[in-house]
Order: sequence, then C-alpha cells, then structure tokens
Amino acid sequence: MSFRAEAVDQSKYAPAVEGILPAIHRRWSPRAFQDRPVSPADLAQLFEAARWAPSSYNEQPWRFLVGLRGTSTHQKITSTLIPFNQSWAPKAPVLMLGVAKTRFSHDNSANDYALYDLGAATALLVVQAAALGLATHQMGAFDHAAARKALEIPEDYLIGSVTALGYQGEPALLPNERMIAQEVAPRTRKPLSEFVLSAWGQPARLVE
Ligand SMILES: Cc1cc2nc3c(=O)[nH]c(=O)nc-3n(C[C@H](O)[C@H](O)[C@H](O)COP(=O)(O)O)c2cc1C
Repeated sequence: MSFRAEAVDQSKYAPAVEGILPAIHRRWSPRAFQDRPVSPADLAQLFEAARWAPSSYNEQPWRFLVGLRGTSTHQKITSTLIPFNQSWAPKAPVLMLGVAKTRFSHDNSANDYALYDLGAATALLVVQAAALGLATHQMGAFDHAAARKALEIPEDYLIGSVTALGYQGEPALLPNERMIAQEVAPRTRKPLSEFVLSAWGQPARLVE
C-alpha cells in the first residue's frame, strides 16, 4: 500500500481538542523529508520563537549549532548519529544540535535547569516550525562525546538533542518497510489522568 505524505500528515494530527493551538495540533515528528531547503527568514523566525522561552534567572542557556545540508556542520552532526538515525536524518535540509550552558553567568554557580530550559526553547521552536508548515524530528540517539569533539563544544555545556528540520516528505522514500510502517502508524499519548494529579497517585478531576 502506498501512503501519500499529505494524507499521512493529516492522519498524524492530534485529535481536535477545543482551543488547542493549531500548531500544537499539527506538530508531529516525521522521518521522511523533502529536498526543499528552509528559507533563512523561516529559520530566523524559529530561533526568534526559541529566544522568548522562559528560563531560570533568564539565563537563556540554550545554544543551537545549525548545519545546513552541504555544510561541514551538517556533516559533522550526521557523523555522530547512530546508524538508525543516519539512515533518514541526513536527508533533512537542516540538522541542529542544542546544547546548554551549565553555569549561571551572574555568579558562575551550577544551573540545574540548563537542560530543562534548552527543552523549553526547543519546544517553542518546534511548535513555531509547525506553524510555518515545517517538520521537525528530535533525536537523542547520537554519540554525545563525538558531537562535543566534532563541534568543539566546551566542557561547561551539556549536550541536548539533535533536531532535523525541513518539509515532510513521502514516506515511500524511507529506506525500509519497517520505517514506512512507523511513519504512518497512529500516534499515542497517555491520558491526562496519568500525569495530572491532585495528590500523588490521585488523578486530578479537571472536568466535573
Ligand atoms: C529528546 C528526544 C529524543 C528523541 N530521540 C529520537 C531518536 O534518536 N530517533 C528517532 O527516530 N526519534 C527520536 N525522538 C522522537 C520521538 O520518538 C517522538 O517525538 C515521539 O515518539 C512522539 O512522537 P511525535 O513527536 O510525532 O509526537 C526523540 C524525541 C525527543 C524529544
């Protein structure tokens, strides 16, 4: 059976819930990407969204190393990915590595929220991407030490995730049937009752 990108995209939307922002509703993580590059203006807009994320002490500890396809940064990020991620992610026109500064600038003390804040900035970035019709797919499965070395990340920065960015492509272009099946599989989520609690072990009653 063949699955067209547009139909797959729509099948992946979160169920419509009254009031949820359209970009949150539409965001999902494809592995198939088109060749089409991302415009510099769109890229700038994504980082503008990330820029306005909240952070502990307003430290803004996030840094993004952005590799456009054809550049050595894209190649270096690719080289650190595990083989599974290497089989699809390098097609994305943009690969970026998110890292977080682990010491506060105001007093050099440890910032225990550095990765948390990087995650918040990345969340805004991926939602803004969805609003622009762009696809993102974050990855944790890469060699952190190799990434640190290849991209010359200082020791006082924690390695976060790699994000592939571009336009969703045809699932049929993925390298094997298993990945195509994953690409078109329904998305799953825990019910609110599992993670919204009024006391430990007690689901919050949000709706009477
Ligand atoms: C920190 C992080 C690490 C991830 N690592 C990988 C990865 O190495 N390879 C991969 O294919 N997907 C990876 N994912 C994607 C998740 O599997 C995906 O976000 C999750 O299944 C939910 O799907 P959705 O983003 O389409 O809602 C990662 C996502 C996050 C946030």
